[in-house]
Amino acid sequence: MTPVPFDDRDGVIWLDGGFVPWRDARLHVLSHGMHYGGGIFEGIRVYDGRPFKSVEHFERFHVSARELNFRVPFTVAQLDAAMHETIEHQGIVDGYVRPVAWRGSEQISVSGAGTSVHVAVAAWEWPHVFSGDAHSRGIRLRTSRWRRPSPDTAPVRAKAASLYNICTLARDEAEAHGYDDALLLDHRGFLAEATGANLFLVIDGALHTPTADTFLDGITRQTVLSLAQDLGIAVHERHVLPGELARADEVFLTGTAYEVQLVSAVDDRSYAVGGVTSKLSEAYTVVTRRVPVP
Ligand SMILES: Cc1ncc(COP(=O)(O)O)c(C=O)c1O
Repeated sequence: MTPVPFDDRDGVIWLDGGFVPWRDARLHVLSHGMHYGGGIFEGIRVYDGRPFKSVEHFERFHVSARELNFRVPFTVAQLDAAMHETIEHQGIVDGYVRPVAWRGSEQISVSGAGTSVHVAVAAWEWPHVFSGDAHSRGIRLRTSRWRRPSPDTAPVRAKAASLYNICTLARDEAEAHGYDDALLLDHRGFLAEATGANLFLVIDGALHTPTADTFLDGITRQTVLSLAQDLGIAVHERHVLPGELARADEVFLTGTAYEVQLVSAVDDRSYAVGGVTSKLSEAYTVVTRRVPVP
C-alpha cells in the first residue's frame, strides 16, 4: 500500500501560534532554514492519548535552538499547550508529535542575522518505526562509512535538521545493502549510535553504552539508564570500540520513535533476543503506558 504523503493529509497543524488546515502548513522556497540547515525538531511519542516526557522534549527544543544561535519565540509551556491541543484536534491515541522550528525568508545570505523563527507542531498516529516483524524479531544494522562529527565541527548536542543529512546518507546506504538501519562510529572511531537512536550493548549481564559526547544524549537513553538502575542492572557509560561488539550477548537501541528496539545483527554477527533487553523493554512499556507493574 502506498503511504499517504505527509503534505496530503486531513486535519490541522499548529503553525506560529494558531491552527491552519494540514495542507496549508507551507513555507516559502527561499526560507533560510531550508537552504542552510537552520532548523531544529523534536519527536514526542503519545501513549494512550498521553505524551511521554513532553516538557523534557520542549526544553531540549530550546537548547537545540540556542546551539544554532536562534531563539524559539514560544515558551516551553506555550509549546506544550499547543501540543496538547494538536493531539486533541487530531484525536491521537498512539502516535507521534513533531515540533519543528526554522529560520524564515527575510534574507538569503549565509548570515542568520535578521531572520525570523517559525514554529510548527504536527501529530499523527504511528505505531512502530519498523514494520511488525522487524520490530519484534530485531533489526539488522550495518556499520556505516559515515561518522558522527566532532563537537568542534558541528552542534552535536542539538537535534539539528542539518545533522540528519549524515543519518539519511547512512540509512540509505544500509537499506541499499538489505539492512534495516546503520550503525555510525564517531570521528575518533568509537561506536556512536544508529540514525535515530542510541546504542546499548549487554556484556556479561551489564549495560555498556557509548558516552554521549558526539551525539544526542537521548531522553529514552536517560529513561532506560534510570530503569536499569531501578532493576539493579550495572551500567557503564564509556567509550566503546567497534571490536567489543564481538563480546556482546545482546544489542539494542533506544529512542523516542524506536523505543527499546532489539538488534538481531550488526553486519554479519547475530544476536539473540536476551533477558536484559526484554526486562528493560517491559519496564519501558510500564513507564510510558503507565500499565500496572506485573
Ligand atoms: C540521531 C538520534 N540519536 C538519538 C536519538 C534518541 O533521542 P530520544 O531518546 O531523545 O528520542 C534520536 C531521536 O530523537 C536521534 O534522532
